[in-house]
Order: sequence, then C-alpha cells, then structure tokens
Amino acid sequence: MQESVTHDRAAQSEETVVAALRAALGADIVALPAEFAGRKHADWSRTPSADPIALIRPRTTEQVATALKICFEHRRAVVTQGGLTGLAGGACMLGGEVALSMERMSGIESIDPVSATMTVLAGTPLQTVQEAADDAGFMFPLDLGARGSCTIGGNLATNAGGNRVIRYGMMREQVLDLEAVLPDGSVIGGLRKMIKNNTGYDLRNLLIGSEGTLAVITRAVLRLRHKPRAVSTAWCGLPNYEAVTTLLRQAQERLPAGVSAFEVMWPGYYDFVLQRLPELRAPLEGRHAYYVLLESSGADPESQAAAFEAFLGDMLETEVIADAALATSEADAAAFWAIRDAPGEYPRLIPGRVSFDVSFSITDVGNAADRCEERLRAHWPNATILIYGHLGDGNLHIVVQEPDWPPTTAPEVQKVVYGVTGEMGGSVSAEHGIGVKKLGVLALSRSPAELAAMRAVKAALDPRNILNPGKLLPP
Ligand code: FAD
Ligand code: LAC
Ligand code: ZN
Repeated sequence: MQESVTHDRAAQSEETVVAALRAALGADIVALPAEFAGRKHADWSRTPSADPIALIRPRTTEQVATALKICFEHRRAVVTQGGLTGLAGGACMLGGEVALSMERMSGIESIDPVSATMTVLAGTPLQTVQEAADDAGFMFPLDLGARGSCTIGGNLATNAGGNRVIRYGMMREQVLDLEAVLPDGSVIGGLRKMIKNNTGYDLRNLLIGSEGTLAVITRAVLRLRHKPRAVSTAWCGLPNYEAVTTLLRQAQERLPAGVSAFEVMWPGYYDFVLQRLPELRAPLEGRHAYYVLLESSGADPESQAAAFEAFLGDMLETEVIADAALATSEADAAAFWAIRDAPGEYPRLIPGRVSFDVSFSITDVGNAADRCEERLRAHWPNATILIYGHLGDGNLHIVVQEPDWPPTTAPEVQKVVYGVTGEMGGSVSAEHGIGVKKLGVLALSRSPAELAAMRAVKAALDPRNILNPGKLLPP
C-alpha cells in the first residue's frame, strides 16, 4: 500500500513538472516520451541508461534558465547531454530525470582575430570549432578521437584532454570565459576575452570538469592559437621504456618547435589494430617493444623539417630509437594518426571490453603498465590486453577483453588495475572523468578531506541536488 502511494505521488509529480515545462517552453522545446521514442540516451561508456521523463532541447540560454528554474522548484533531476561520447556514464540516466540536450545550441557566434578568441554555443561539435579556427588562420588545439560528435560543452564539463595536451594543456587551458546556468536558473559568467582576471574564486575553473553536476554550460569564449606552419611527424619503434622516456626528454629539450604530441602504443595494441583494421598500414617493418607517434609543430617549415630529421637521425645513431618512419606528406601523417585513432572502432572490434583511463608519474608509467599486464595475464591468460596512451601526460589507457566473459568479470578486472593504480599513487581518471563508472574508486585518488570539500561545493551550488545527481560524487 505504502509503495503504491509513493509511486502514485512520484508519477503525479513527474506529470506536474513535465506539464509546467511544456507550458513555459512549448512542445517544440519540451518533448514527451512518445515524441522521442527510439532515441539513444546512453553515452559511449556502455553504461545502461533509463529513458528520461521529458527531453528538453533549448535554443537559448534563457530557455535553459527557465527549464532549470522549473526543475529546481519541482526538485526534479536534470541530466545535461552533449554529443554522448563520454566514457564515464556521466550523461546516462539513472531513472526519473529530465534530459537537457544541447544539440540546438550549436554554432559559432564570433571570431575576434586580435584577441585570438572564438565565442561559441556549448552544443557546437569540437570539429566544427577546429575547422572554423583553421579557416580563420588559427588553430584550436584540443583534439581527440570523438572530435566529430563531442561538443564544446561536453569537453568543458569533462575537462577533456586528448592528443595535444603535452603542448597546449587540457580543455581548461583552451577557454577564457564561459556562460553557465546554475540550478536555480541564475546565469553566471560573461563572455570576457582577457587572459588575466583575478577577481576572486575562479568559477569558470570550478565548472570545468564538474560533469554536469554544478551548472549547465551554455556558451564559451575559446582561446585560439597560432596555426603551426610546419608539422613534423614520425612513427618510431623503441627497444625499452627507458628509451621512451629518453626520447621524450631529448625531444622536449632539443626540437626547436618542441613536442606537440607524444603518443605511445604497446605492441599488443599495435598488433591488434593492424590485424583487425585492414585499411591501416604498418609504418615500420619488424616488431618493437614500444611505438611512439612523435609530432613537433612550429612556424618555420624549412628549418624545422631539417632539425626534426637530424634529431631522428641522432636518436637512431644513439640507439634510443630502433627504427623510425618520417611522414613526408600530410597523407603519411594521417596514416600514422589513423593507427592511434583506432579506438573509434572499438564498439565493432572489441565488444564487452573493460576500459581504463589512469595516470601515473611519467617515471612510473612503464612499471605500472607491466604490473597491470602481468597481474591481468595471471588471472586471464588469453585475454586481449591493449595498452596505449598520452605518455607525455602520464596517461595510460588499458582495454581488457575476453570473448566469453560473464559480466561479473568486469569488477574483478577493475580490482586488478585500480589496485595497481592505488598502490602506485596514480589517478583513477586522467581525462574521462568519474561519471558513474568510477564512483567506487574515486576515494583511491581523493582524500576524505578533498571529498568533503567537493561535497560542500556541490551543496552550495546545487542545494537541491537536481543537476546530475548520483554522478561524480559517491553517495
Ligand atoms: P557527453 O558525453 O554528452 O557528456 C559528458 C559529461 O558532460 C556528462 O556528465 C554531461 O552531463 C556533461 N555535459 C555535457 N554537456 C554539458 C554542458 N553543456 N553543460 C554541463 N554539462 C555538460 N576524452 C578525453 O579526454 N581524451 C581523449 O583522447 C578522448 N578520446 C575519445 C575517443 C573516442 C573515440 C570517444 C568516443 C571518446 C573520447 N573521449 C576522450 C571522451 C570525452 O570525454 C568526450 O569525447 C567528450 O569530452 C565529451 O563530450 P560530449 O559532448 O560527447 O559529452
Ligand atoms: C583515447 C581515448 C580513449 O585516447 O581517451 O583514445
Ligand atoms: Zn585519451
């Protein structure tokens, strides 16, 4: 009896909030379940998602504010969704929420070449921003495999990293200001274009990486960089981990244009993707203990190409590198990057995988990877184990799969990898965030005092816990 009363009340309050949203914003903005049947609500993490009780697709910041104000009054949970490429389940629904999709708030509002900024709506895809920056003679440096679908709002909400962090930093470094709506409907932030702004608590940086739990990001002023006129790319085979770290240090010290990418792949990854994706070409003959995709981007095509080639020659002579292929065209470079971008094909290639996004000090990455692989192999000798990552940032991705695993195996695999992460003082999430996938292991990387401070921030900005409840902070 008690249960059905509670259930009826919940159903009634669902109807009331949806009716209030629809009355305030109209049927074009607020869709009912029958109107969005068949729509996908889960992200790329393969976390199961419930269906939302309504789908809001605002066109303006004011509409976002109206929607949040109503949900705040009705204490109704809201999940903000960008391109649904997240890998932590942050945009998935737990049940009973309203979904707020940013898909209609897409577009570039302005480019200011003097300040080197681009003002965009938060639902704009990353690739659209990259292409517009390029057309305007600049570069937007954030880059990751999901570039075609992920949105600037999602990149900000997860503080995305990707392939060029070593040179330009994470998403946090690519934005000068943002506009956002707080849970009670108030709008904060502006569209300021200056780099320096020491006016108290940095609310922008608090919202970056908050995974939709503190505010809905609606607009951003992005920082553009000068377009490199020369990009040198090489694919290198190396004999051991010491050689990998030597190459990194030497490249950072000696390449005149520095290092813009240093992506490392272990042979298990390399062999797997080359075997499974016939369109990929092996850049080198023979097998190596490590493969590095090295990129250096600068301003002077002639002097840079010569310096890059001479540097590679020297690394070969001193046997830091065992073998190397130098890209002599954009097509060559694209072919090297295609090997690194192969994770975009995982849903087809490696279903049922268990994936990790951990980080360690660069000194420890080699040992951490060996320790994880040894312990995983001891339990599951025939598993596919793929290891690769943004080594210049200490960031390892590990993917583990065996075709016949029951679902109960995933927690055991996690125990092994997170065990090594905790033991070696690593981070359980280098770049993908906590979402729901890593709630159980956040405490391995955050102290009780840090978790208490995070909870205090959440309670202050979202006192009714309506924004993405059940995500990022363990109950
Ligand atoms: P979604 O998945 O829709 O949402 C992600 C989170 O952000 C959710 O918690 C959601 O609630 C919140 N959110 C979304 N938009 C807003 C907003 N406007 N306001 C407030 N909260 C919001 N990540 C890396 O860091 N580095 C990589 O190299 C990388 N490579 C990837 C490669 C592939 C093939 C794929 C599929 C993903 C990869 N990712 C990588 C994951 C990365 O997190 C996402 O690609 C991206 O940052 C998420 O953007 P999205 O718009 O898809 O967000
Ligand atoms: C990558 C994603 C998985 O680096 O972060 O490929
Ligand atoms: Zn990554």
